[in-house]
Amino acid sequence: MDLPADTSRSMLSSYDLLPDKYMNITSLIKRLPKAELHLHIEGTLEPELMMALSKRNNVTLPFSTVDEIKAAYDFSDLQSFLDLYHIGTQVLKTEQDFYDMTWAYLERVAKDNVKHVELFTDTQTHTDRGVPTETVIQGIDRALKDGEAQLGISGVQILCFLRHLSEAEAEKALDAALPYKDQIRAVGLASSEMGHPPSKFKNVFARARKEGLVAVAHAGEEGPPEYIHEALDLLNVVRIDHGVRCLEDPKLVARLVQDQVPLTVCPLSNIALCVFDSMEQHNFKQLLEAGLCVTINSDDPAYFGGYMNDNYLQTQSALNLSAADMIKVTCNAFNAAFMDETLRNTHLETIAQLEREFG
Ligand code: ADE
Ligand code: ZN
Repeated sequence: MDLPADTSRSMLSSYDLLPDKYMNITSLIKRLPKAELHLHIEGTLEPELMMALSKRNNVTLPFSTVDEIKAAYDFSDLQSFLDLYHIGTQVLKTEQDFYDMTWAYLERVAKDNVKHVELFTDTQTHTDRGVPTETVIQGIDRALKDGEAQLGISGVQILCFLRHLSEAEAEKALDAALPYKDQIRAVGLASSEMGHPPSKFKNVFARARKEGLVAVAHAGEEGPPEYIHEALDLLNVVRIDHGVRCLEDPKLVARLVQDQVPLTVCPLSNIALCVFDSMEQHNFKQLLEAGLCVTINSDDPAYFGGYMNDNYLQTQSALNLSAADMIKVTCNAFNAAFMDETLRNTHLETIAQLEREFG
């Protein structure tokens, strides 16, 4: 098919119908294999599934319709979101519930060409309601195994401590999870950031690392750059979740660039939780231009208006990122992933092939 000489890529509309030699940035993004490194599995609970599980388990929600749930998705900050997120998690009771939620997420992101996922699970949210750690971890694990076999998506779980609770409670969560250590790759730190610095969790992270788990932590989402320093120095994390406030501290930026510490940035989340006023004002491009190892992720996609491709596409278009930028952040994610080397290289080779095709 010949295109008129003056048809630029940005003017095309039905990209998916075009042969590959006319691939534009939208179709490139859709075709890129992706790794999602920052995803709270409980944040994938879509309103329809939330309602269905509330009926299945006889859990009364403060909403009677899917529309009422959706109407509540209007957040002013992280805490206002977490309050609603915790209400949603109450419908999860059985191993099958955790399986169904995880499977729904995997089926959804298969459409976005996601090939590897690293899921945070806050077991404390569930054990506090009497749901055993085993129920949570085994239900998610079963879905991850089916995802690998049926969808070709590899996956790992990250046990995420809740920072608004005490370190003693995190120690208990670690103890309860250690019998399932084979199903967990790392530990993380999430929930209300302000007033709960990484230093609060120094001992439990040290013990988790001794047990062979790697460490990541949310830092610099709402909290100050100092929390990022603490996560690196005191928790020995290998990745920072969010980290967008690092730009306020040039010395920290230099350190993160020097060590190429991956930042798992979640652009739509940052807009939904008012970290930035709009996507056009997001600092993602500045992070990239500073030489930081940034990646794109969805955080809590059921609540923040989009899964992986939505995050990629909206970030690219609002900040006018180039194809090379999108390829770079996609490679960053695979390079930062806790995954099998052969599989990593297979996906990196597919990306390199797409880069050549794009020209
Ligand atoms: N738990 C779920 N989503 C979160 C986020 N964006 N930040 C901190 N904790 C979370
Ligand atoms: Zn998060």
